[in-house]
Amino acid sequence: ETEGDGLGCLESLIVVSNRQPYRHEYEDGEGDEGSIVVDEPAGGLTAGLDPVVREANGTWIAWGDGDADFAVTDDDGCVAVPPDEESYTLHRIELSEEAVDSYYYGFSNQVLWPLCHEFPDLIDDGDAWANDFEWYRTVNERFADAVAEHATAESVVWIQDYHFGLAPRLIRRQIPEAATIAHFWHIPWPTPETFAECPADEELLVGLLGNDLLGFHVDRYARLFMECVEQYLDGAVVDHDRWLVDYDGGTTRLATAAMGVDADTYDETAREVEGTDALLERFGVSPEVTLGLGVDRLDYSKGIPERLAALERFFERNPDRRGEFTFLQKATPSRTGIPAYERLGELVRSEVTRINSRFGTDDWQPIVYTEEYVSREHLCGLYRRADAMVISPLLDGMNLVAQEFVASSVDEDGVLVLSEHTGAHERLGADAVTIDPTDTDAFAAALETALEMPASERRRRMRNMREDVFGADLEAWMDSQFAAIGRLHCSSGSDDDE
Ligand code: ADP
Ligand code: G6P
Repeated sequence: ETEGDGLGCLESLIVVSNRQPYRHEYEDGEGDEGSIVVDEPAGGLTAGLDPVVREANGTWIAWGDGDADFAVTDDDGCVAVPPDEESYTLHRIELSEEAVDSYYYGFSNQVLWPLCHEFPDLIDDGDAWANDFEWYRTVNERFADAVAEHATAESVVWIQDYHFGLAPRLIRRQIPEAATIAHFWHIPWPTPETFAECPADEELLVGLLGNDLLGFHVDRYARLFMECVEQYLDGAVVDHDRWLVDYDGGTTRLATAAMGVDADTYDETAREVEGTDALLERFGVSPEVTLGLGVDRLDYSKGIPERLAALERFFERNPDRRGEFTFLQKATPSRTGIPAYERLGELVRSEVTRINSRFGTDDWQPIVYTEEYVSREHLCGLYRRADAMVISPLLDGMNLVAQEFVASSVDEDGVLVLSEHTGAHERLGADAVTIDPTDTDAFAAALETALEMPASERRRRMRNMREDVFGADLEAWMDSQFAAIGRLHCSSGSDDDE
């Protein structure tokens, strides 16, 4: 329940995110003559927040990126959703191609994403970033203006992720003092050494300190944020014990809450799956194999080349596994057009081809790689069927796939091989097989450990992990966020009848 724990005083909830919960599209190839179809909420976050915003009859502000999005909105960009049961306002922001190029592909994903994932070499430090940052500011301003159109003294504004580093302060300036601004930063926060590479370091910190509450997945990121504030922002006072930052007359409280998944739904869906043989055969995988599984966006932070190197080492060391073990890698192209993502895609595809030609036979491939769309039902089936799920990011704020796998492992016989550099490892590390993805030999040995683990041991570990994943699921995450928001908001004087 969202109300009981913190939002009893909630009268107006405004969510801000880059990705929208519903997208309107013209039916395939029919252009603007065609009938309009609605895409359901896709990822974990949008799907998880949707019921909360529904219940609150709130407002959701997001980038309208569907080709029919603005055919269904009013002149202000607003449309009532969900389509079948209108309960809240989706306010779409229309962005020009240039704005998308600079704000989304540019500053968000070629400065902040590599910065926060500790890939300083991939930060766009040419001349482009200054222009990209201008657009990032402009887009943040447009979102802030949209918030101001809806906000009252009773509002709680809840901002999602790194696309909106400047928005909190811009919003603060425009809305009543009594309204509460909270933000969840879904990706890691970098070390002060790496943060030095941020071309707009001070403005970004000042922006984020417009929040009343700033949330991270794990304590480490919140601590690093405080260290960066202390080092890079004159005039800020950091209270490391109480996790408070005072700046320019305002106070920002830091909080951690490890995001979870909708575990019950994954569990139920996995139970309903009627076998995966046909699906595996479609991919050219024999249903008899011992199955390794990888599921990722095609992103350089996910450690996919490192995973392929470990698999190659594994097959070198274990000739008896050839023909018997297959690794299925499901990847979704992401942020295509950004050179680092294009290069990664090429590298991954060519490495798979090379390894397959080294070990593959007429009727068996060591690695089956697909970018094909797989429905949520089939995904749950694969999670359930996998003997070893391999998650090897070089750095990942949380990694929800790890939890989805655990929630779907209803037979309690799969093993999770998990990078120590994920937020998920703080939760599941004790019962996963831990890896450092850059240590190829140890990674290959971990795959051996996973595949040779006795059934009783697999069950024991999986039960522990399931306890964690069901106990701290998406709803619990939301409740903890709202409890923290509620403590600030309900005591701020805007509403004292809680
Ligand atoms: P990120 O948000 O960085 O992509 P997460 O693991 O936290 O990583 O969340 C990814 C979400 O996207 C999960 O809900 C997962 O099921 C989904 N997803 C990721 N890759 C794929 C894929 N190749 N096919 C289908 N779903 C995917
Ligand atoms: C990560 C980010 C999200 C983002 C998602 C998909 O999870 O934290 O904010 O939505 O990746 O990336 P995309 O660029 O396609 O939105």
